[in-house]
Amino acid sequence: MSHNTIAINQRMDRFDGHESVWLFGYGSLIFKADFPFIERRAASITGWTRRFWQGSHDHRGTETAPGRVVTLVPDPGQVCHGMAYLVTPEEFAHLDHREKNGYLRLATEISFEGAGSAEGLVYIATHENAAYLGPASERDIARQIAASRGPSGPNSEYLLELARALRELGKFDHHVFEIERHLREFMAG
Ligand code: BEZ
Repeated sequence: MSHNTIAINQRMDRFDGHESVWLFGYGSLIFKADFPFIERRAASITGWTRRFWQGSHDHRGTETAPGRVVTLVPDPGQVCHGMAYLVTPEEFAHLDHREKNGYLRLATEISFEGAGSAEGLVYIATHENAAYLGPASERDIARQIAASRGPSGPNSEYLLELARALRELGKFDHHVFEIERHLREFMAG
């Protein structure tokens, strides 16, 4: 699969005709919603785990020195916490463009913190996309993040903002917090 997923995402018609659609965010969408939304709620999806396994050549790294950002990997029974946004369908054109480096829209059940659930969308970059980097130790991931920067800023800022936002939500994520721990060591020199 090529880097650019815009055309594939625009053929996704699951919510055609809906006035609004829930979007689940588990990465930068938790701390940076640069689009209008109708409502925002803490939420989770089941069967997925957040991992820093996707390469970022266009936001937090470059073509020759990619950074690492999160994707979701299937993990039966696991719960991934994040933030859900109710948006109008037009917002997906903007998001398809922003996340064109391998992320595909997937329909999923979203559970809201407190009570209730809704069918919505999540962007996932699978191992089949060209920008996928895959597993590495949390220390090696932290080292790569410490060294990477792209048009959207330092890769370290992305990691630290995500860790802060998860703490603010009161959610523990071992993978993210271990990378943060190693990153802070490297940054302290
Ligand atoms: C997110 O923050 O949920 C997100 C991650 C990757 C691509 C698009 C959104």
